[in-house]
Amino acid sequence: MNTIFKDETFRDDFTFSNSPAAIKRFPFPYWEDKYRYSVNIEPHVPGPKGSVYEFPFDVDEHYVSDMRDRALVLKEDPTRCQALPHMMLAQWDTLELIMTSLARDYPEHFSLERNGDDWHWINRPLRIENKFRFGDASTLPYEPMEYITRQCQGDFTLSDQRDNNLWMDAGIATAQADWSLDFDVGMNFMEWHAPVPLAHEAGVFDRALKFLLALQYGKPVRRLNWTMTINPRLDTSPENYHKWGPDRATVTPENVGDKVHLRVELQALWRLPRSNAILFSIRAYLIKMDELVTDLNKARRMHRVLQTLPPELAEYKGITRYFDVTKEWLAKYDDGKPTPVGF
Ligand code: HEM
Repeated sequence: MNTIFKDETFRDDFTFSNSPAAIKRFPFPYWEDKYRYSVNIEPHVPGPKGSVYEFPFDVDEHYVSDMRDRALVLKEDPTRCQALPHMMLAQWDTLELIMTSLARDYPEHFSLERNGDDWHWINRPLRIENKFRFGDASTLPYEPMEYITRQCQGDFTLSDQRDNNLWMDAGIATAQADWSLDFDVGMNFMEWHAPVPLAHEAGVFDRALKFLLALQYGKPVRRLNWTMTINPRLDTSPENYHKWGPDRATVTPENVGDKVHLRVELQALWRLPRSNAILFSIRAYLIKMDELVTDLNKARRMHRVLQTLPPELAEYKGITRYFDVTKEWLAKYDDGKPTPVGF
């Protein structure tokens, strides 16, 4: 694949945009004209060529700029990357999974040579090259999880499994939708999901946890989640609420198309081989309404999803402030026709 990496920003002047190809491959998260929480988990198997599902870790045109934004966040706030001491083996598992996947799937960009525990990694787009000893963190410039996730799009958490529960004992979060790694680290599955409305009562988290505790090595799974964001900002963390919160009051009927973004998270989960931990990747894709409505089927469905969204979900997702104006803006694309199945 001949990806041209764009030079763009996710802050200040917000020069981020999607190419026509990126708009086409955007992972649209709704399979019907309404949205409710569900245990929407499916095997993370290779999808069609060119789709975001083609490879386990999707590297797209935003890669270099994404990684630059992550480095800026970490420089300002090192608490965005944390790992409790017992997670070191899981960190190495993570490094191995990501390096072997990237080198196999994108050989023009990444290469990995392994001679026993002596590894040689090259990342051409970011101009990184390191020889290190697998298992010896002193031979890398950062701890293994931080080293490799500074080179892989998406936020990540590592969960330790014990006492029939999952514990968020490590992670890196520089592009999250209003949750805090610093707050959640050390919590279990039910604790970190506590703020989510309606899903607990519907048994979603009981079923999801049961499923994940039995997740097998070599059989990763995935799901989509979504929210909306004003401006193409990756870092919408509670830590930086003062920077992005006020943006939500700036939406007008004239600027909806440019400012309001659908933000979809492709989340994947892997059982790791040595540590028995679970790696959770949260890969965020952004698309502005002007780009989304270039596909009438998506525009129509987006309108209907917002029209029928339970108010508790809109409140939790933090979109109430500009909800009505966005719905009204989208209404002109809803011709009342049924949306084709599986468009
Ligand atoms: C939200 C983490 C697996 C469903 C969240 C939040 C976090 C999180 C940090 C934000 C909570 C907040 O508001 O502070 C994780 C991790 C997982 C995991 C680390 C695996 C190790 C799952 C699974 C499901 C799920 C398997 C499947 C049902 C949800 C839902 C929300 C949520 C529905 C609310 C999202 C929204 O409306 O924007 N998760 N999660 N999670 N999670 Fe998970």
